[in-house]
Amino acid sequence: ATRSDLAGRRVVVSAGGTREAIDPVRFLGNHSSGRQGYALARTAAARGADVTLVAANVSLPDPAGVRLVRVESAVELAEAMETERAGADAVVMSAAVADFRPVTSAASKIKKSGDAPAPIELVENPDILAGLVASRAREHTEQTIVGFAAETDDVIANGRAKLARKGCDLLVVNQVGGGRAFGTEDNQATVLGSDGSAVDIPTGPKEDLADRVWDLVVERLPG
Ligand code: PMT
Repeated sequence: ATRSDLAGRRVVVSAGGTREAIDPVRFLGNHSSGRQGYALARTAAARGADVTLVAANVSLPDPAGVRLVRVESAVELAEAMETERAGADAVVMSAAVADFRPVTSAASKIKKSGDAPAPIELVENPDILAGLVASRAREHTEQTIVGFAAETDDVIANGRAKLARKGCDLLVVNQVGGGRAFGTEDNQATVLGSDGSAVDIPTGPKEDLADRVWDLVVERLPG
């Protein structure tokens, strides 16, 4: 049976992985395919939500019935999320965001020279999720904010610390490394709540995980 428990709600989902330009042809990036984020967008639309999907470098087919905004870098993603978050009932950050970007992007392709390679100097990117939490606090509005966490070890302990640091309501902690989560069809996670709750979602299609996340969001939405 299709639920329509997100009817009348507006949600914003980020998906994919940011690319930080080194020069016109090279970037620092990550292995996110966008599959988990697209599954979140599709399931929310199926449950009746008005969905905006902010996609960073995803090459999957556009999901039907979803408004798609494309970005490349973390700074562009930050701007898009700050714009789209306004008035949304829920925001889910499933994009994999580069923590750092090159200080400058060379105007032309960096050439090999006989010398030692030049180091790439990095600067920190904005923490988009923490920024969304700050924007909500400034507005005194009710909005459910969900983060993801990609952890390789001490998954739950690191997840708890990250949840506290970022200040979101739910943190979907998935284990990565060893071929898990990035680019796969299936995923598993523990969803940590700011209320101290922990819900295990066993391995299954990313769609199923997405639906379980929306169940937890729906529980937290004001009547
Ligand atoms: O796209 P797929 O191939 O399906 O893979 C899915 C996934 C593994 C990418 C996804 O399930 C996932 O875990 N996404 C979050 C990856 C990530 O960046 O985790 P993190 O632990 O580095 O960041 C924690 C949270 O802060 C995330 O919600 C992230 O979007 C956010 N963040 C991180 C850095 C930053 N500068 N700004 C942020 O908002």
